[in-house]
Amino acid sequence: MSAIPSVRCESCGTHADDPFALAGCRSCGGTLAVSHEPPRLRGAALRELFDSRRGAPDASGPEATSGVWRFRELILDADPPGIVTLGEGRTPLIASDAIRRFTGVDSISVKHEGLNPTGSFKDRGMTVAITHARLVGARAVLCASTGNTSSSLAAYAAHAGIPAVVLIPLGKVSPGKMAQTMAYGARTLLVRGDFDDCMRLAREAATRLKAYLANSLNPWRIQGQKTIMLDLLQQCAWKAPDWVALPAGNLGNTAAFGRALVQARELGLIDRIPRLLCVQALGAAPFAKSFASGFAQRERVKAETVASAIRIGDPASWDRAVLSIRATDGVVTAVTDDAILAAQAEISRAGIGCEPASAASVAGVRAMREQGVIARDHRVVAVLTGHLLKDPSAAAADSLTLEVDATVESIERALP
Ligand code: F0G
Repeated sequence: MSAIPSVRCESCGTHADDPFALAGCRSCGGTLAVSHEPPRLRGAALRELFDSRRGAPDASGPEATSGVWRFRELILDADPPGIVTLGEGRTPLIASDAIRRFTGVDSISVKHEGLNPTGSFKDRGMTVAITHARLVGARAVLCASTGNTSSSLAAYAAHAGIPAVVLIPLGKVSPGKMAQTMAYGARTLLVRGDFDDCMRLAREAATRLKAYLANSLNPWRIQGQKTIMLDLLQQCAWKAPDWVALPAGNLGNTAAFGRALVQARELGLIDRIPRLLCVQALGAAPFAKSFASGFAQRERVKAETVASAIRIGDPASWDRAVLSIRATDGVVTAVTDDAILAAQAEISRAGIGCEPASAASVAGVRAMREQGVIARDHRVVAVLTGHLLKDPSAAAADSLTLEVDATVESIERALP
């Protein structure tokens, strides 16, 4: 078996030798990061290795079938038989005239992470976390969730044969996500509180009860989520766009994207770093508020927004997300629920579809274009994080629904 890379505290550098102590550094409470040996190959040779795996027509095994494990030298160099994969990653970059018109950006495309096996980007981090959990012999895995992490954890844990326990804020998670989580067999605890209460409990339980924590505080989750960016850069033929926009809640993706970009440049995969545009919902925007004052202080809010996936007032990956914004000359903004729903409706009309939280990225691009921060000729990729069916009740019913008699005439009357 390949050696598991070491994990260190991002604040004080202390080595974390207990593979189950994933909630934070034992010495200072800082977040943990995987520090592995740089790969032997660099620049064009490394690009060629990754490209050959992606293009191989008859290849099998995780490197070929997963858009996460294609990059395994930068993630977790596990032996293929030990990898827990459902064929995640390999999500499309989609261009659309409707989204171009809506945002006022000529060269925009969306990276649809909702097309992962459980319908959200979480699968990218979960394949790595559950592979690690199995390598270290975890007997049960645990997370707090607004619904997507729990669905993904439940699926990957079931696939690996490891019991999963999830903490869900009572009455705050969409029925689609609840259905997934329960169908995959996770023990689902409905907590009388909000997501921030669940997250606090999950951290505490992981530390006190030594359960394997699968939230994005877990550095293996971040490793997997880096591949959204690597995959996207590869799809852009390793020519970095000007901006990458993403919705932000608990800030795991913001942390992962910044780390991936810094690493990609260090390894010569790209020659410049795109700017991150991190978009929060106005009612759940502590990070945007802090950005506006140069991150002078950490903010916490009581979160409320229609975008339930990002209804988070005290994000866990705060410090490392600040590093990401600084390293990428990034911008953090907040958009109203109306702006989110308008973007979601437009994305649906384009035949693409996504859940409300995902549409925040496109709404943010539009807002920044209006303010002149993003120019019409900038190259922009907006990440859509979750599938439309995750939260169908929030989707705008755009087309006309008619109840009709079972006759051809009624169809004739309905034809446009
Ligand atoms: N978009 C979707 C669809 C999400 O489910 C989440 C987070 C985010 C964006 C925010 O990403 O936390 O990396 O900033 N969902 C978590 C969950 C909290 O439990 O499913 P982040």
